[in-house]
Amino acid sequence: MTLPTASAPLDVSAVRLFELITSSWVAAAVGAAAELGVADAMSREPSPLAEIASRVGADAQALHRLLRACADLDLVRESPERCFALTDLGEALREDSAASMRGYARWLGSPTERSTMAHLADAVRVGGPVFESVHGVLVWEYMRRHPEVAALFDQGMSDISAQLTRSLTEDYDFGSSGLLVDVGGGRGRLLSLVLSANPHLRGVLYDRPEVIAGAEPALCQGELSERCRVEGGDFLDAVPAGGDTYLLASVIHNWNDADAAKILTHCRRAMLPHGRILLAEVVMPQGTEPARTARFMDLSMLVHCGGEQRTPSRSAELFERAGLRLNRIVPGRGVSVVEGVLA
Ligand SMILES: C[S@@+](CC[C@H](N)C(=O)[O-])C[C@H]1O[C@@H](n2cnc3c(N)ncnc32)[C@H](O)[C@@H]1O
Repeated sequence: MTLPTASAPLDVSAVRLFELITSSWVAAAVGAAAELGVADAMSREPSPLAEIASRVGADAQALHRLLRACADLDLVRESPERCFALTDLGEALREDSAASMRGYARWLGSPTERSTMAHLADAVRVGGPVFESVHGVLVWEYMRRHPEVAALFDQGMSDISAQLTRSLTEDYDFGSSGLLVDVGGGRGRLLSLVLSANPHLRGVLYDRPEVIAGAEPALCQGELSERCRVEGGDFLDAVPAGGDTYLLASVIHNWNDADAAKILTHCRRAMLPHGRILLAEVVMPQGTEPARTARFMDLSMLVHCGGEQRTPSRSAELFERAGLRLNRIVPGRGVSVVEGVLA
């Protein structure tokens, strides 16, 4: 083999493209660190590599390779003699961190998720979701059949919704609400935050029966349980009646227009006449400005379930189809609240 004698420096666009192409390696490293639980096996003080390896049950040499890559991402800090400490950023990969994103990193790094996104080109070719062709069944049926994958997903959603929907708990005014129905509320992390922040509110957590079975203990026992009940069911059939506020956090983006309108119609019929429907979603901008989270989450919706991140005008169309009207959008730092009322 003849080796090149001199190599010209890569030009800037080649470097940038290389970074984009290999960004899945970065996500894989973060996912692996989360899966292994390395952050939980470390502290802010340097620990010897061998100790961390034995705590997480990993090969020390290979873990060293992973951790020095994580040091490059500012998740951990390497000190002499192969010792590693957690950084501020890495702290959020701990399971017990108040701002933990470990579950979300594990889900995004999971073989189910990564093998689905690997088919993005097919989804773009056919113009619709490919989850069923990749895994044999639709996404929610897959979750029902694979409880271990569903547990990863549900925990991931709890983590990310607690972070992305902070503005809902901090900035949105629930003053005039009495009974909040969280439709497709997962394990209820968001509902428990909203109820804690609004002591006058009562809540209903509604999701598929197998998800409700793993609902947050805070909602089922203790102080919040007096103000909250959990109910299993299928929102394509019906939703609990009698609420004045129906919250759908990262739910409507999972569905195509026909199914999304069906879910919203059930909410309209179930709610009190002065009620409101809140879509807590990452809103796709109307224009061409950069919006990385919205634009990439939108691709994930395309691949998995044929949903989309909707622009304000697409949400207005959807509300109209369900007998509702878009009242206002309360912008948030992660998700915004797209508020619908009776038309
Ligand atoms: C993307 S997750 C969002 C969960 C939660 N709202 C959050 O923000 O963390 C979508 C939720 O919709 C629920 N879901 C999907 N299909 C459903 C159905 N037919 N009936 C009730 N819930 C359903 C899923 O179980 C899941 O918890």
